[in-house]
Amino acid sequence: MKILVPDVPFDLDFPSRLPDGGASFGPGGTDTVVAYAMNEPVPEEHTDADVLVTWSSPPKVVADAARRLTRLRWVQTLSAGPDVALKAGFGPDVVICSGQSLHDDTVAEHALALILATVRRIDVSLAAQREHRWAKEITFAQAEPATEQEYTLDGARVTVWGFGSIALRLAPLLTALGAQVTGVASRAGERAGYPVVGADELEAQLARTDLLVSLLPALPATRHILDARLLALLPPAARFVNVGRGATVDEAALEDALRSGRLGGAALDVMETEPLPEDSPLWDVPNLILTPHVAGGRPRRAAAFLADQLTRWRAGETPRNLAR
Ligand SMILES: NC(=O)c1ccc[n+]([C@@H]2O[C@H](COP(=O)([O-])OP(=O)(O)OC[C@H]3O[C@@H](n4cnc5c(N)ncnc54)[C@H](OP(=O)(O)O)[C@@H]3O)[C@@H](O)[C@H]2O)c1
Repeated sequence: MKILVPDVPFDLDFPSRLPDGGASFGPGGTDTVVAYAMNEPVPEEHTDADVLVTWSSPPKVVADAARRLTRLRWVQTLSAGPDVALKAGFGPDVVICSGQSLHDDTVAEHALALILATVRRIDVSLAAQREHRWAKEITFAQAEPATEQEYTLDGARVTVWGFGSIALRLAPLLTALGAQVTGVASRAGERAGYPVVGADELEAQLARTDLLVSLLPALPATRHILDARLLALLPPAARFVNVGRGATVDEAALEDALRSGRLGGAALDVMETEPLPEDSPLWDVPNLILTPHVAGGRPRRAAAFLADQLTRWRAGETPRNLAR
């Protein structure tokens, strides 16, 4: 088997993690592993590959691979969201698996950073710092009985929309800080001790949400799912944090809600167009914190995961994280 592995910017010592220490690779081995430049089209001599591992390649590079790698049987993404691979046009016989679980620790960590930043109004303190101004308004507002709840996670009603692998890592961190966590997912029912509601209860759930965290994948069904109508259901001081995918949010509606003060604040790690264009209005929206899609970008234990996936594949078992 020929396996193409991207030249990732992190340590991916994949063959050495195999049960045989990588003996199956290279001359005399049964498999060949070839590194490819992740931002370039796959070189012609490797279009006979059986397996393609992807990581953050531009969508046009993945689509090009879908057209030219005609012998491909399996695409394994190292990203948790396999949306780019799913849309690339791989043939119906090509198995696509996601990197679900590799990003749980890191994305939960960044989500928590954004949550605390917007709840604790770090954006206001930073803006005041640049003006050499002591932001006294925070001192008063966080102690005022009418507004104190807006400044803490203790007792906050947190809704995590998309209650999958990353959410299950994040939820206990929020619980530890006193938040009451409820999940929203495709299927309702308790998960790891947390109540999870389905689409039928979403609107009622939003109305009782102080902080909405989105960990939704980009799917046709989730495109612009957070729109003006649903944003209007959130209580006025609510905060919104998105670490899922930008395409799930109607950004014009979000901008409107923030500018009009109907939403207390927001923090986005993901945007519909990335990199965010220099002239995007989002840069200057008040009470909005932006980070440049950096929540993940550092998969944990990826080599061991790939080795395990390959072992399953060789044994004729279905690999994990089947996306289609
Ligand atoms: N910012 C970053 O750097 C970064 C890094 C990694 C991942 N991400 C994003 O985070 C997303 C979540 O990752 P994950 O590993 O936690 O994925 P996951 O385990 O697949 O969880 C996705 C969750 O979304 C729910 N869901 C899907 N469609 C829905 C819908 N229409 N309505 C309500 N819930 C829906 C699923 O419900 P069920 O459980 O009922 O199926 C599941 O709970 C990824 O898809 C990726 O886009 C971002």
